[in-house]
Amino acid sequence: MSNRRPLIAGNWKMNKLSADGLALAAGVAGRRRAQPDLPCDVLVCPPFTLLSEVAKAVAGSGVMVGAQDCHAKVSGAHTGDIAAAMLKDAGCGAVIVGHSERRTDHGETDAMVKAKAEAALAAGLMAVVCVGETLAERDAGRTFEVNRSQVQGSLPDGANAANTVIAYEPVWAIGTGRVATPEQAQDVHALIRAELAARLGAAEAAKMRILYGGSMKPDNAKALLALPDVDGGLIGGAALKVEDFWAIAEACA
Ligand code: 13P
Repeated sequence: MSNRRPLIAGNWKMNKLSADGLALAAGVAGRRRAQPDLPCDVLVCPPFTLLSEVAKAVAGSGVMVGAQDCHAKVSGAHTGDIAAAMLKDAGCGAVIVGHSERRTDHGETDAMVKAKAEAALAAGLMAVVCVGETLAERDAGRTFEVNRSQVQGSLPDGANAANTVIAYEPVWAIGTGRVATPEQAQDVHALIRAELAARLGAAEAAKMRILYGGSMKPDNAKALLALPDVDGGLIGGAALKVEDFWAIAEACA
């Protein structure tokens, strides 16, 4: 960790109906209210259907709400898609773009992710831009090359430390219980920061937050969050339970 304020972000993915989702949101908001001085920012990213309700449930608590995707265009004939301004209108302050599940399930390319991130910034949302290698890419010794090119291709024009966060999520660690070792995580985070420095300058890169995601749990969070270039977590499974999610937030203290 560093002087960057960590961000603990929960990606609920395609989970939670209203009763459970609102209870989870209220639980997180209650913890945040009880520990306003905990040194981290907290973000929850429910499915689209719950965004407005969750935004109302956490209002005033200091918990930020984000979506899990947005369309690159401002409006128009894109059935089933959601524009960044709609997310903002629903109470969001952020949006995840380029999650590996979207890259895989929806064929999202770096160029598409970049366009979505730029749409997010234009709407006044913080973009959480995800990158990460597959197991096959790691085994082939391509980890650095893949992450470097994803950062190069996905980083929005106009990115700065206030409006953009990078999330390094090794695909082989997502939902598998197989977490990156601290050394593996730090190596890629340092590489990403170097890439950001090349693009944005060293001063801006030094301020930008790079989250780790992939089987982050209460029992491994402290070691990951202590790494020099890890500035928080993007948490899936463990974000679905107040206790687990908040235990990770407390690991920032
Ligand atoms: P898990 O924490 O369930 O591995 O998911 C990580 C993730 O994909 C967050 O975006």
